[in-house]
Amino acid sequence: MEYLDIDQVYLGDSRELLKKVKPNSVDLSIWSPPYHVGKKYEQEMQYDDWLSLLDTVISLHFDILKPGGFLVINIADILCFKDEKIPRIMAENVSRRKVPITKEQILKTWSEYPGYNRRQIAEILGCSEQTVDRRLKGNNIRGGKYTPQTRVKLVGGLLEDMAYNASLYLYDRRIWVKDPAWENSRWHTISYRAIDEFEYVYIFWKPGITTVNRERLSKDEWTNWGSRGVWFIPSVRANDNHEAKFPLELPRRIIQLLSEPNDLVMDCFIGSGTTAVAAILENRHFIGIDKEPSYVELARKACKDARIGKIKVERRLPPENQNLSLFDSKVI
Ligand SMILES: C[S@@+](CC[C@H](N)C(=O)[O-])C[C@H]1O[C@@H](n2cnc3c(N)ncnc32)[C@H](O)[C@@H]1O
Repeated sequence: MEYLDIDQVYLGDSRELLKKVKPNSVDLSIWSPPYHVGKKYEQEMQYDDWLSLLDTVISLHFDILKPGGFLVINIADILCFKDEKIPRIMAENVSRRKVPITKEQILKTWSEYPGYNRRQIAEILGCSEQTVDRRLKGNNIRGGKYTPQTRVKLVGGLLEDMAYNASLYLYDRRIWVKDPAWENSRWHTISYRAIDEFEYVYIFWKPGITTVNRERLSKDEWTNWGSRGVWFIPSVRANDNHEAKFPLELPRRIIQLLSEPNDLVMDCFIGSGTTAVAAILENRHFIGIDKEPSYVELARKACKDARIGKIKVERRLPPENQNLSLFDSKVI
């Protein structure tokens, strides 16, 4: 059988192409899958399809990872999606009402003037007919994030079970604190939920001997992030060419921590090519896969830029209360 060459980005479905990766060849696999939040590349995908995609891809990792190697999955731990089977999350946001008329006031007025129509009741209360209608029909009762019947679900346990069934075992997890996504958080204005500002990095291990090399990082790097559970890394500022890029510093840290130079790093949801760029900058080999032709093109171009030294990592000033290094990357 012909296996995929290294240092290439491939166009195709990971569920198929992973079968063509040479068995026991990958030292480290790093990816961020579709999050099932309605991005362009995941439209048409139902929750069960999404679960099945993750399950298949995780289980294909057992054969291709080297014994002692790692599978690292970056994902937002909380999912919100439409689920007809659960009750609506209901909320009446009284503080956002422009007109302070309540349903009770309307019902009381109507009981006092039983023959009146909606317009007359509105006149008495000094509000519009629409307000009367809304209060009575409960139009101000909203559902969860974008639609009613929003299911809120944790993902970590699902991944852990899928990996466990594939004989890959949870080794560690880190929290990536990113920029608070205010613009995505319509939801906090109509609920008590926190905005989206961190994600998880789950690390799974394939049984075998893992090289532990404390020389991989400097003393400062161990202190600042290598040994730390929480990583502060700003989100990508310009998601202009791909909707969901992770910052270069994320795969870079994972690569530095969990692999050696010349190792093979894989990303089977490569998107704009960030993991491949990190691998190139850290002198590792890579294999990238994505199902969208435009992303594959983007990733190939990013690899080319990285090889000719066009992508550089910049240090940014840490926020006041964090004694941690922040990095960003830019194409020069
Ligand atoms: C969250 S994005 C990854 C972004 C990437 N980490 C980056 O920094 O650009 C997920 C990617 O998975 C790709 N994808 C979704 N389903 C796929 C499949 N079955 N096989 C291969 N790629 C897939 C999408 O096209 C998308 O680019």
